[in-house]
Amino acid sequence: MDSNNNKIEKVVELLRSSKHTVVFTGAGVSVESGIPPFRGAGGLWERYDPEEVASIYGFKRNPKAFWEFAKELLVKTKAEPNKAHYAIAELEKMGIVKAVITQNIDMLHQKAGSSRVLELHGSMEYVDCLDCHTAYKWEEIEKKIEKEIPRCESCGSYYLKPRVVFFGEALPSDVLSEAMDEARKCDVFMVVGSSLVVYPAAHLPFIAKENEAKLIIINYDPTDRDELFDVVIHGKAGDILLKIVEKLKHV
Ligand code: APR
Ligand code: ZN
Repeated sequence: MDSNNNKIEKVVELLRSSKHTVVFTGAGVSVESGIPPFRGAGGLWERYDPEEVASIYGFKRNPKAFWEFAKELLVKTKAEPNKAHYAIAELEKMGIVKAVITQNIDMLHQKAGSSRVLELHGSMEYVDCLDCHTAYKWEEIEKKIEKEIPRCESCGSYYLKPRVVFFGEALPSDVLSEAMDEARKCDVFMVVGSSLVVYPAAHLPFIAKENEAKLIIINYDPTDRDELFDVVIHGKAGDILLKIVEKLKHV
C-alpha cells in the first residue's frame, strides 16, 4: 500500500502544478456505483455477446436482446454517483480539471456536479424510434423496461434506440474533435477506470503524450498501455481520488 501512497503524492504534485488537467473515464469509475464493467472481474462481456447486445447489426436483428442487457446495465442499480465521480467534480471546482472525457453512458459525472463532460459514446438521456423518429426521454422508457420490452407509443415499433454509440457506429464527430483538442492542450491527462482497449477513445492518451502532457492512470487492473503513463496506480478509484482531493485541499 505504501507504494500507492508515494504515487498518490506524485499525482498531487502534478495536479497542483497543472494549468489544464483533463480526466478520461471508463466503466471502472462507475463500478462503485453498482454498474458492472465490461471487462475484468464481473465484466458484462463475460455474460453477454457484445455483437448481439451492443452492435448496431445485432440491434437491428433483435432489439429485445439490447433491452434485456440494458436492464442489467442501468435500471437494476438506479445508479448514483460514487466517491470517484464526486472527487472528479471537486477537482473541477478547484480549477484543476477543465474537462471530463467519458466513455460511459450513465450520466453520473453530471449528476455528481461535473459541468464540462464530453460523452464520446453518447448517453441514455434520449431514446429515438428508428421508424417514426419520435424522441423519448430516458425516464419515460426506464419505467417501462422493468416489466416489458419498450415499444414506440406513436407507431408500435420495437426499434427504440438510445442515443449511445453501438459497435459499428461512428462516434459523434463534434464531441470527438473537442476531446482531441482537450487531449492536445492539456498538461496532465488522468485516466480513471478504463481498460483502454476500444478505439478511437483509447487513442486520446497517445495524443496527450505526443503533446508533452504528464499521464496518470488509476485503474483496478493493469492495462496493456500502462507503460505509456508517468504514474500508474492500481486500485479502487473512489478511495484513491478521495485521498488525492484531501491532500490537495491541505497545502
Ligand atoms: N476503480 C478503478 N478501476 C476499476 C474499478 C474501480 N473500482 N473497477 C473496475 N475497474 C477497472 C477494471 O480493471 C477495467 O480495466 O475499470 C476498467 C474497465 O474497463 P472496461 O470494462 O473495458 O471499460 P471501458 O474501458 O470503459 O470500455 C470501453 O468498451 O464495451 C465498450 O462501449 C463500451 O465504453 C465501453 C468501451
Ligand atoms: Zn415510432
